Amino acid sequence: MKATFATEVQLLSDIAKAFAESLNLEETLKSILILLDTHLKLHRGTITLLDPDTEMINIKVAHGLSERSKSQGSYKVGEGITGRVVQTGEAIVVPDIAKDPRFLHKTRSRDTENGRKTAFFCVPIKLEGRTVGTLSVDRQAARTDDFDASLRLLNIISTMVAQAIKLNKMVESERAMLRDENVRLRRELKTRFDVHNMVGTSNAMQEVYRLIEQVADSNATVLIRGESGTGKDLVAHAVHYNSLRADKPFIKVNCTALPETLLESELFGHEKGAFTGAIERKLGRFERAHGGTIFLDEIGDMRQESQAKLLRVLQDGVVERVGATQGRQVDVRVIAATNRPLRELVADGDFREDLYYRLDVLSVVLPPLRERIEDLPLLVQHFREKLGARIGKPAPAFSPPVLDAMRRYRWPGNVRELENTLEQILILCDRDTVALDDLPDKLQERSPEPGAFQLPAGGIVLEEVEQDLIRQAMDRSGGRIKEAAELLGLTYKTLQYRLKKHAIERN
Ligand SMILES: Nc1ncnc2c1ncn2[C@@H]1O[C@H](COP(=O)(O)OP(=O)(O)O)[C@@H](O)[C@H]1O
Ligand SMILES: [Mg+2]
Repeated sequence: MKATFATEVQLLSDIAKAFAESLNLEETLKSILILLDTHLKLHRGTITLLDPDTEMINIKVAHGLSERSKSQGSYKVGEGITGRVVQTGEAIVVPDIAKDPRFLHKTRSRDTENGRKTAFFCVPIKLEGRTVGTLSVDRQAARTDDFDASLRLLNIISTMVAQAIKLNKMVESERAMLRDENVRLRRELKTRFDVHNMVGTSNAMQEVYRLIEQVADSNATVLIRGESGTGKDLVAHAVHYNSLRADKPFIKVNCTALPETLLESELFGHEKGAFTGAIERKLGRFERAHGGTIFLDEIGDMRQESQAKLLRVLQDGVVERVGATQGRQVDVRVIAATNRPLRELVADGDFREDLYYRLDVLSVVLPPLRERIEDLPLLVQHFREKLGARIGKPAPAFSPPVLDAMRRYRWPGNVRELENTLEQILILCDRDTVALDDLPDKLQERSPEPGAFQLPAGGIVLEEVEQDLIRQAMDRSGGRIKEAAELLGLTYKTLQYRLKKHAIERN
């Protein structure tokens, strides 16, 4: 290893280049050993790395060793020369390995019978003060060799190797972090729209879950029907995020929100100059949903002209931008939802029959809340937790009589109405338990038991008595609501509400 200065410089510059060219550590280390061979005629080189978990020193890359030798090259810290170098952090040079008892010949690769001397160099690879591995080479030695000069060069190379390891570790941990983050986000997204995120154990809802799972895997168009607030949006999300398109876009379009012309350019896009104001070419939502799912909400509100264009997309998978002369192929799954009776709209001529049949391939029908009222306690529990967290105070409890009152109501706005009502109650109620009085009017009106006797206009007498009592209490308390409420055994809020209801002035 009598390297000239020029050879050394060339070697180092080639090694630097190898580092720059690859982020793959093993590849880089291999090229270093090959460069040592070509520039310095070192036919056998090894780089070992200490595995911090097992405390074993393993051959990471080797040049001039067979695979079998490589796999046997594993050392304990302190064992043999390699183990000693890792333990002490000091380089070791063995001028003649045949004469050195420390030499283990673990890899059994060296032919010591040919009578020539082999020298062995082993230098530590240090990272932030710790020895993380070794770089070793051996060569046929001559008496005139300058071992110190060789060591210096190997030490420089080992410093470069350490940098490569450090860089590799950083890249690896960054990669692992990104990977974890990605997995976490995906899982979060999935649970957010998981079927199991929908609350309800009634038979009707179990049927809905079963349908969602059944339709998710296919590419067929799904029509979701159900009154407003029954969970059509949730179902659309669940279908998409349980389908093979889950990683692709989910794009929602509300067909009611936009006027006819805008809806068309929203859905299908437009070319520059297609109409006044179209100053730029615009991609439609269908094109943006390519590979994924488009959710057409309130499809029953779509007007005739858009219906015709939508039909073309469903039939041929072709989207035509407004003002374009040619269509474009898109791969989009369509989910549509409506709370209107589409069949009746078809009969009235307001909805294209051909489009209706194209849409209604698979359908999911959501039951109104009143038809699955057994789910109400679960839903109340669900929203108590959700809203409590949002409002930032623990939600009060709902007693059985209160839940009964809620069960008797018809809930025309379904789960959405329930959620809004609960929010209103939670904001107003400042006790641990919700009382009947805390419920809004609509929930306090008792629908008569079937067959029960009812006074004609029975409420009127009671109302008058109530008004009278409230007036008296207000008089006695000098118009102070708090005191009057105490006299009546009502909460402040309830009295406030009743004062308003009966239009009683605070005197
Ligand atoms: N089964 C359910 N479990 C939990 N929350 C629900 C359920 N169904 C509906 N919701 C909630 O009720 C609200 C209205 O639901 P949404 O899907 O927008 O109804 P729709 O689209 O049918 O009008 C949303 O906040 C939704 O999260
Ligand atoms: Mg909706």
